[in-house]
Amino acid sequence: MRTPLLAANWKMHKTVAEATAFTTEFLPLVAGVDDAEIVLAPPVTALAAVAGACRGSNVAAAAQNVHWEARGAFTGEVSLAMVQDAGASHVIVGHSERRHLFGEDDVAVNRKVRAVLAGGLSPIVCIGETLAEREADETAAVLDRQLDGGLAGLTADEIAAIIIAYEPVWAIGTGRTATPEQAQDAHAHIRGRLAAVAGQRAADRCRLLYGGSVKPANAAALASQPDVDGALVGGASLDPHSFAEIVGRGRPR
Ligand code: 13P
Repeated sequence: MRTPLLAANWKMHKTVAEATAFTTEFLPLVAGVDDAEIVLAPPVTALAAVAGACRGSNVAAAAQNVHWEARGAFTGEVSLAMVQDAGASHVIVGHSERRHLFGEDDVAVNRKVRAVLAGGLSPIVCIGETLAEREADETAAVLDRQLDGGLAGLTADEIAAIIIAYEPVWAIGTGRTATPEQAQDAHAHIRGRLAAVAGQRAADRCRLLYGGSVKPANAAALASQPDVDGALVGGASLDPHSFAEIVGRGRPR
């Protein structure tokens, strides 16, 4: 049985004051939820404030990115120990915006995943095809390449414990959500690939989130799919009532 996970990716939105105001309003809205994990990923400047406000609650905090080295001359980067110190329990790795806007490749994603696991945190590893790749019938090949590269060297137990977010690039921030059937097809493919590399038991335990224009109105239909274990939400997670509604409707049953 996989515990559903609903995660908010705020991207480059919210100051400390705005993030704290969100959290103050949001926590009471989801206080009764005990059958799902809820994660907020603020920008790194607000991570400590959000994690602090969530301490003792049923909501966890995530970093949106991390560097794979422990320390050193890497201007502008943050280490795993730093985000852990700020209170993060999860780290988003390999988001398509990191891949496409900042040139992150599967080798970098793999280094980051290993650093997060070595530090005892949970990576949320993002994969997904572009529109051109989908139209060229390359979706399965792209997902396989990103999985094989990003998860290289992981044990079956590690694969069982990580979280994977399927985020088709054409659905991110476009209002064009994958249909529940498209999401299920991709998730079933991903789980099959995980089973091939790590065994069915690990694949059955690994949680697969869908991301890309998830809204209160479509969260339930996506969550009803057998291989969709939750959601990674961008725009619709910026408002506490909207994200609380997604938590309410987007829990697979
Ligand atoms: P939107 O929900 O804004 O489409 O963003 C999805 C996403 O990229 C979450 O990581």
